[in-house]
Amino acid sequence: MKLTVVGGGSTYTPELIDGFARLRDTLPVEELVLVDPAADRLELVGGLARRIFARQGHPGRIVTTADLDAGAEGADAVLLQLRVGGQAARERDESWPLECGCIGQETTGAGGLAKALRTVPVVLDIAERVRRASPRAWIIDFTNPVGIVTRALLQAGHRAVGLCNVAIGLQRKFAGLLGTAPAEVHLGHVGLNHLTWETVVRLGGPEGENVLPKLLAEHGEAIAGDLRLPRPLLDRLGVVPSYYLRYYYAHDEVVRDLRTKPSRASEVAAMERELLTMYGDPALDEKPALLAERGGAYYSEAAVDLAAALLGGGGSPYQVVNALNKGTLPFLPDDAVIEVQAAVGPAGPVPLPVPEPDPLFSGLIANVTAYEDLALEAALRGGRDRVFRALLAHPLIGQYAYAETLTDQLIAHNREHLAWA
Ligand code: G6P
Ligand code: MN
Repeated sequence: MKLTVVGGGSTYTPELIDGFARLRDTLPVEELVLVDPAADRLELVGGLARRIFARQGHPGRIVTTADLDAGAEGADAVLLQLRVGGQAARERDESWPLECGCIGQETTGAGGLAKALRTVPVVLDIAERVRRASPRAWIIDFTNPVGIVTRALLQAGHRAVGLCNVAIGLQRKFAGLLGTAPAEVHLGHVGLNHLTWETVVRLGGPEGENVLPKLLAEHGEAIAGDLRLPRPLLDRLGVVPSYYLRYYYAHDEVVRDLRTKPSRASEVAAMERELLTMYGDPALDEKPALLAERGGAYYSEAAVDLAAALLGGGGSPYQVVNALNKGTLPFLPDDAVIEVQAAVGPAGPVPLPVPEPDPLFSGLIANVTAYEDLALEAALRGGRDRVFRALLAHPLIGQYAYAETLTDQLIAHNREHLAWA
């Protein structure tokens, strides 16, 4: 089995390698290709990756290259984990929206739109090359904003599935609180990437007992603390929102918070410098503890599980993925990309039926789906007016004066990445 990671020079990669090493019975990788244009990073990350495999007795071969076409040749699956413009572009996404009192975040709000506009054309170009190099390869997309990027890939006819670690993180969290194995915990997960709610938590599988009321009653405080939302709000919702919902339910509070702190991008950039120094140490042969301070916990396990199921070698039968709606949420277009539990096999993901969500959730889901649709239009076709329409449609923006200012800012700060600007 050959796997290719585009953005393989990411400081996150040792997390992935650690997962491949530990879970080699689930996913027997023979050749792992790390593709990245940044030769210096690739050398450091590739070196550590080889030492992690060696320490864990993994027989797989690790190849590093800047050549995407050669790297993807004959691959069974290609993971996309890239960041166009690096942390410097993220830093800007997190800053200028704050100037007019809007959230500055890499995937939510105006910053998320900027990221989508930079990223979609690059990912589509990569996917075309992957299709030529290996027509049967599955594309697993971790590249944010995952909902919009996955929709772009599927619309262009690629064999793609979008993946995020929010659901697997909550599954692990709930399993710990319930004192059971993660595989026993089946989430009723509904929404869009970075806009989801756990509406039921079942034990044993999709038909198991719903323990969510018990979980909220016994551990509501801890769960609310993690999300940095008030416990009474959780009780009133009766479900567990993802921490990205804080940007909606506590928008102004978060803006105040963000204005007083260094940006997440600058924290991450500092961590990355430290991590790369560590990776260069020939004595290091495991993922360093510092990596756990990044947001990507368990993403390797989600990736292994998904790749194993898509390539027919096992993996969990049901997994939370980003896939075409196709009537699962009847109030959304069939070609919208949603994030739900799906049965996953070699034919791809098939969403499981989802009970109609409470209007409290479906209203926001429908609104953000419309925004994502307009965001994709803007990413594919460019133009100031398309950017403005997407911003005006976003529930966290909505007012024309903000949309005007943010449109100008977005274009000014991203000109070098926007072919049309
Ligand atoms: C979570 C999200 C990812 C996001 C990451 C950011 O894992 O699901 O989509 O990229 O957080 O983490 P960072 O450490 O870069 O802030
Ligand atoms: Mn994510």
